[in-house]
Amino acid sequence: MAHQTEKDATAAIPLMTPYKMGQFELSHRVVLAPLTRNRSYGNVPQPHAVVYYTQRATRGGLLVTEATGVSATAQGYPDTPGIWTQEQVEAWKPIVDAVHRKGAIFFCQIWHVGRVSTNDYQPDGQAPISSTDKQITPDDSGVVYSKPRRLRTDEIRQIVDDFRRTARNAIEAGFDGVEIHGAHGYLLEQFMKDGANDRTDQYGGSLENRCRFVVEVIDAIVAEIGAHRVGIRLSPFLDFMDCVDSDPVALGSYMVQQLNKHPKFLYCHMVEPRMAVVEGRRKINHGLLPFRKQFNGTFIAAGGYDREEGNKVVADDYADLVAYGRLFLANPDLPKRFALNASLNKYNRSTFYIKDPVVGYTDYPFLDENDKDSATYA
Ligand SMILES: Cc1cc2nc3c(=O)[nH]c(=O)nc-3n(C[C@H](O)[C@H](O)[C@H](O)COP(=O)(O)O)c2cc1C
Repeated sequence: MAHQTEKDATAAIPLMTPYKMGQFELSHRVVLAPLTRNRSYGNVPQPHAVVYYTQRATRGGLLVTEATGVSATAQGYPDTPGIWTQEQVEAWKPIVDAVHRKGAIFFCQIWHVGRVSTNDYQPDGQAPISSTDKQITPDDSGVVYSKPRRLRTDEIRQIVDDFRRTARNAIEAGFDGVEIHGAHGYLLEQFMKDGANDRTDQYGGSLENRCRFVVEVIDAIVAEIGAHRVGIRLSPFLDFMDCVDSDPVALGSYMVQQLNKHPKFLYCHMVEPRMAVVEGRRKINHGLLPFRKQFNGTFIAAGGYDREEGNKVVADDYADLVAYGRLFLANPDLPKRFALNASLNKYNRSTFYIKDPVVGYTDYPFLDENDKDSATYA
């Protein structure tokens, strides 16, 4: 009976309709957004990640991993995973395998934090690397990032190669593809945005020059594993970590044009501008529309979505898929809850980034506790 209700309800819900993303047959539009969880001790993914990701895996659902480092200099937070060593690749394998056994599609988000780091996270206590030697302005959070070292022009090729090798490693670990983290003020954005990039070589100045590094990364990864399994996350409108651009629409449009040069480039995942609160409700201002219109592949929108807004943007063809961060973190069975229009668990911000292998991670309750162990949810 409950199953019947769920099926009937699903038919009318845009978020619960199937979608073909390249070669992948998705059964619904609710994507697990990348979420850093700081539980990969020593930068090695742990067996408890099997529980975390399989809890959120559904048959035909798309999951993106937490941001995963491309090299020893890529780290800036405690216990975030990497995928640049063989040990890390081997540690990802059982996690990916378990997610696949539940029928989900699994992409690895790969990143380099650049100057969002301190000497303590860097090999031999060196300075973090960036497009610039400008330090991030300390804010009220109490975190002070170290003064970075500006990469020399001739060093950039090596970082591009780190991304390329990492993408290959992700495929070796069994992932269906990679999501390049080109958002939120990390290394790729430190080049893209004119508020951070103050270079005078061919990687600075004009929009084309500022995007040269990320375009080289995209091209190298596409050549390595094929455009059909590459996506990218971009946030042209955000200003995280002192990374702001004077013309975000031009930046986003230029990047979409670069993606379109690869005929089968899989997806563009964009983060909405910060939300305004209108009459007590968060209001998404749908600033991504120009990019959605220009991009030839699958378009994923993220940032502040709830069930109602997600359904609306899918129905309006503003996005093909919607990625959910905090709601999916707190509701491992989020697609089912959306299908049933069930109430949601509230997230607990204080446990987002703790080290505990269970608390705030795999202990959020399911609607139906039997789902905790069940192998499928169609
Ligand atoms: C705990 C936490 C960790 C996050 N880690 C990442 C990350 O690793 N990579 C990334 O691109 N975004 C990360 N984000 C941003 C989310 O993917 C998402 O864009 C953001 O939470 C807004 O979406 P929401 O309103 O659905 O939560 C993180 C957000 C949270 C709350």
